[in-house]
Amino acid sequence: MTKPTILVTGGAGFIGSQVCKTLAAAGFLPVAYDNLSNGYAWAVRWGPLERGDLRDGAGLRDVLRRHRPAAVMHFAALIEVGESVRDPARFYDTNVAGSLSLLEAMRAEGVDDLIFSSTAAVYGMPAHTPVVETLPLRPINPYGVTKMVIESMLADYAAAYGLRFGTLRYFNAAGGDPEADIGEAHDPESHLIPLVLDVALGVRPEIAIFGDDYPTPDGTCVRDYIHVCDLARAHLLALRRLLDGGESLTVNLGNGAGHSVREVIETARRVTGHPVPARLAPPRPGDPPVLVADCARAVADLGWRQERAALDVIVADAWRWRQRWRASPPVDAR
Ligand code: UFG
Repeated sequence: MTKPTILVTGGAGFIGSQVCKTLAAAGFLPVAYDNLSNGYAWAVRWGPLERGDLRDGAGLRDVLRRHRPAAVMHFAALIEVGESVRDPARFYDTNVAGSLSLLEAMRAEGVDDLIFSSTAAVYGMPAHTPVVETLPLRPINPYGVTKMVIESMLADYAAAYGLRFGTLRYFNAAGGDPEADIGEAHDPESHLIPLVLDVALGVRPEIAIFGDDYPTPDGTCVRDYIHVCDLARAHLLALRRLLDGGESLTVNLGNGAGHSVREVIETARRVTGHPVPARLAPPRPGDPPVLVADCARAVADLGWRQERAALDVIVADAWRWRQRWRASPPVDAR
């Protein structure tokens, strides 16, 4: 029997490649569609790579015709919040126009099921934590706005054209493949855990703590770090739900547990056994003091449970990958 194919846009990226590994282990053939602007060919190991841009509608249709996927998983996007403030046009083009191009290609080729990577950034500065999905969406930067617009597009396509979707709102994706086959390699890196691990490795001199006067137990921002493998399993469950004829859904994905910047730094010191010099820096504009997910809906609707929730495990898995990647970068790493 041939394996069902899943088209994975952004399949060469951090989360997309982990999901490809999970899909392959579950008996699917993941076909990565990626322009390699932020992803890496070495991360595509569990199925073919179709090199292409989201905004190339004809190219997408050709790929859909050749591979006949049962569903699409859509990770490809620009993700850096600061860059979205400096250059919003690129974000609207890649994220919004790119997603429209994908939806149109799917509609033309009769592919109806889509899993979409959304973000906690759609909530902006939420009035309550833990954050439930029913809170109003009030993004405070262009990145979050683009993801909110795409969520609306999915709802409208569902009502008008019969699209079925699973929208997954990630909190802070972190960790790494426990076998260290693949992992986070953003360029430039802006996320806390990989930056802290670079300091532990000695390739950065120190970590800047963006503010310590927040209304949190130790004054630094609290975030909900979720292991990429737990994210990947949630994608598989959401996919199976759609393929089994279940209804569309929108769920938060986090640990449901918050950790402060100082806790992350302490954990990195403990896990790596290396010093991690830190210095206080001004707060970053637009950082909510606390962002923690209520994941009850994902648990109830997907039967999802975190398996690698402890911050020590998240940091240890990211550390294993970081050491391996820094020691011998994959051939096409820039
Ligand atoms: N931080 C530092 N120093 C650094 C980097 C980060 O103190 O050098 C702090 C940030 O201020 C924040 C926490 O560490 O409090 C985590 O920062 P990240 O940049 O790793 O992650 P964010 O919480 O800012 O961003 C994440 C996702 C975004 C998403 C956002 C939603 O990476 O894609 O959550 O709010 F938009």
